[in-house]
Amino acid sequence: MAADRHTYRITGGVPLRGTVEASGAKNAVTKELVATLLTDEPCTLHGVPRILEVDLVLGMLAELGTEVTWLGEHTVRVHTPKVANTSLSSAYSGVNRIPILMMGPLLHRRGETVVPLPGGCTIGKRPIDFHLEGLHQMGADIVDRPGSVKVTATRLTGAHVHLPFPSVGATENLLLAAALAKGTTVISNAAVEPEVVDLVLMLQKMGALITIDTDRTLTISGVEELRGVEHHTVADRIEIASFAAAAVATDGRIEVRGARQDHLITFLNALRHIGGEFTETENGLEFFRGRPLTATDIETGVHPGFMTDWQQPITVLLTQADGTSVVHETIYEDRFGYAEQLSRSMGADIELTTRCLGATACRWHNRDFQHTAKINGPTQLKAADLVIPDLRAGFGYVLAALVADGTSTISGTRYLERGYEEPVAKLAAVGARITTQPA
Ligand code: EPU
Repeated sequence: MAADRHTYRITGGVPLRGTVEASGAKNAVTKELVATLLTDEPCTLHGVPRILEVDLVLGMLAELGTEVTWLGEHTVRVHTPKVANTSLSSAYSGVNRIPILMMGPLLHRRGETVVPLPGGCTIGKRPIDFHLEGLHQMGADIVDRPGSVKVTATRLTGAHVHLPFPSVGATENLLLAAALAKGTTVISNAAVEPEVVDLVLMLQKMGALITIDTDRTLTISGVEELRGVEHHTVADRIEIASFAAAAVATDGRIEVRGARQDHLITFLNALRHIGGEFTETENGLEFFRGRPLTATDIETGVHPGFMTDWQQPITVLLTQADGTSVVHETIYEDRFGYAEQLSRSMGADIELTTRCLGATACRWHNRDFQHTAKINGPTQLKAADLVIPDLRAGFGYVLAALVADGTSTISGTRYLERGYEEPVAKLAAVGARITTQPA
């Protein structure tokens, strides 16, 4: 991955006040860009965040022959009249989770593809067995190569695929493969995150036939072709929750324009248990502290549960709450690596354990993964020099620096900027004392 463009200097202790605009969701728009490969007609996406991850995906599409035209700051037109290349170059090996999602569209357009194996944040093993097994069931021939997979299919056919776990990526992969497949595909135990539903909405506008049942079953009746589309990407509920946590942690008040209550129900309950509050505004939601902060137990889970990507800012917020909180991470086995720097360098009191401390044992039960955190608070965090290890930990560190006493420096900002649009400008707009230095 590219080097940092800059490091941050953050002086903590300032209550953040003001308004920020929610960006489009990274985890929706990147898949929606892939979905445009399913048609030879032009597609226009609105609400596209200007983040490194979007640049990466547009670079991949350009390599395949897509014409990319920015029509406005957040509007991009993508058009792939012909797929010129069936394979992505090895430069995209290990960079993110997107190339594997291109398998279905490329099979439909050209009958074969070689895609580099995925990377992304190091927060667990992140295998792709569900993706490959599902595509295999739909008739694809899959050959493993070093660092890539070669997939061929004359025509994908519908199948009943039961996912062992409601994987977001595997669900999206199979949706993209099934939209133009011959016959009906049923995905049971599917992920139904708002970002997945947003992809379904876009595909439906393109002409796809998809139903979503209340029991996590998606049924896709394959159609012969899909048409161009104009679609506005859903707002980023991870960014929104990040700013909400920042408002409450700094005892300030932040309105996030574009925040949708229906996508945040579980988050808002957790925030309220801790002492945070919200009100609806004309254009979004406003977040603030409703009472002194108190400890709470939280378990991450698949939607409509508490998102694993909300875990990091909330853990930092809990360092400011009175009492002992427990955060049980059930999605990824290794998503608390960032906590060590918070304890060692900033004075947080966070203890990691391999035990499941939630209501039920999770997939990481009796295995050697430190996936539960006990947070004793409140602690006055002190400034430190921090190195961001992954995207979501990145905002956790920024938040820790915002509540800490003194001036922190943060490097590894390239990880944060993969997924947060203009974080420095947005934080400065609500009064954060944040500056950048060339890296
Ligand atoms: N899993 C498997 N086999 C598979 C696929 C998944 O075992 O074939 C396991 C994973 O190892 C993990 C669990 O299933 O334990 C859930 O993984 P999922 O497939 O749902 O995650 P993903 O699609 O790789 C997306 C987001 C993540 C987000 C998760 C969960 C993107 C690009 N990434 O990952 O976002 O945490 O869903 O909601 O959409 C981030 O934005 O920082 C980020 C990591």
